[in-house]
Amino acid sequence: MGSHTGRQLLSLCELVGLDAGDCAGYARALTDALGPVVRRSLDLPPAAPTFLSDDHTPVEFSLSFSPGAAAPSLRVLFEPSSGFGTLAESSRLGLRALHGLAQRWGISTEQLDLVQDLFLPDDPRGSFALWITLELTAGGTPRMKAYLNPAAAGPDRAGATVREALDRLGHHRAYDSLPPADRLLLFALDLGDWAAPRLKVYTAHHRLRASAVGALDRMAGGPSPAETEAFLYTAAGLPAGHDGVFDRRPVLACHSFTDPAADRPSGFTLHVPVRDYAHHDREVLDRAEKLLPRYGIAPDVLRDALGALTPRRLEDGVGLIAYLAMVHQQGHDPRLTAYLSSEAYRVRPPNERPTGPRPVL
Ligand code: TRP
Repeated sequence: MGSHTGRQLLSLCELVGLDAGDCAGYARALTDALGPVVRRSLDLPPAAPTFLSDDHTPVEFSLSFSPGAAAPSLRVLFEPSSGFGTLAESSRLGLRALHGLAQRWGISTEQLDLVQDLFLPDDPRGSFALWITLELTAGGTPRMKAYLNPAAAGPDRAGATVREALDRLGHHRAYDSLPPADRLLLFALDLGDWAAPRLKVYTAHHRLRASAVGALDRMAGGPSPAETEAFLYTAAGLPAGHDGVFDRRPVLACHSFTDPAADRPSGFTLHVPVRDYAHHDREVLDRAEKLLPRYGIAPDVLRDALGALTPRRLEDGVGLIAYLAMVHQQGHDPRLTAYLSSEAYRVRPPNERPTGPRPVL
């Protein structure tokens, strides 16, 4: 497994123009933090049914495109010590891996330390304990993000857990500014040296109506409902003027908080699970190639990135692009992110048509 994901990481690193020394260092760090699973044969089934990716590879890549940037920023999301022992054991080992990475690069884990007991208790519940993202910047020191499970103390406690975490981190009015949601999916922390570190809450919206998507945004100065709708319609291949229900996989929103004094989020991201609303990856890429130029971004790097991940034809599967996301953050131009699957274990065959959101009459 390690050589598969390592090779993909190196190809993407090279594609976004990182130098070879930085790339090699990042690949080594990923291998170390993944743990014993790197030596596991891909002929065996996945070590754990992680929901980090659809085929249970404990690694997912993403490219975030900002207008004007020479290259997208490359990130890698992974489950440290994936599949090792019980959830409690993998939580402990995962935390140890995170501290190892933090030490390696002098990244402070202070924010995480303050809420660790809420999300990483001795007897964690749910489907995962800890994920890490490294944003692979030039210079060899990445930025780090930790992803935690709001349901770690039980799904019925998710709201209280997130409220308490936001409170402890000084964001006393944040929780009440979140939109109504079916599920709190992830709680994320930017760790270390960020200009404005964010706390992020991911909300899942089941059976969302396309025409209602504008209401999910609570950001001060966020996108207009028309912009959010236009992004969703294009990403889902829904013709303008038609409404539809996203009933195969929920649309996600992410609300980010940077200013403890604020009463609203300073950022809003809409994550569209394109793999459940398209026939195959060629169709998804076509949609991304429509969206990127709207935001002032050239689409060629995304196309090349898919080629760097896999030699397969885009028509032969779906899910290589798992999500397309529109990201708004105060003080920055809007950007677009594509989440890219490793497909170490499996290529999902094309979906049967019709693939769009269920029509509303
Ligand atoms: N695979 C999970 C999902 O689809 C979690 C996840 C992985 C995710 N990458 C993501 C969620 C990017 C949002 C955005 O929900």
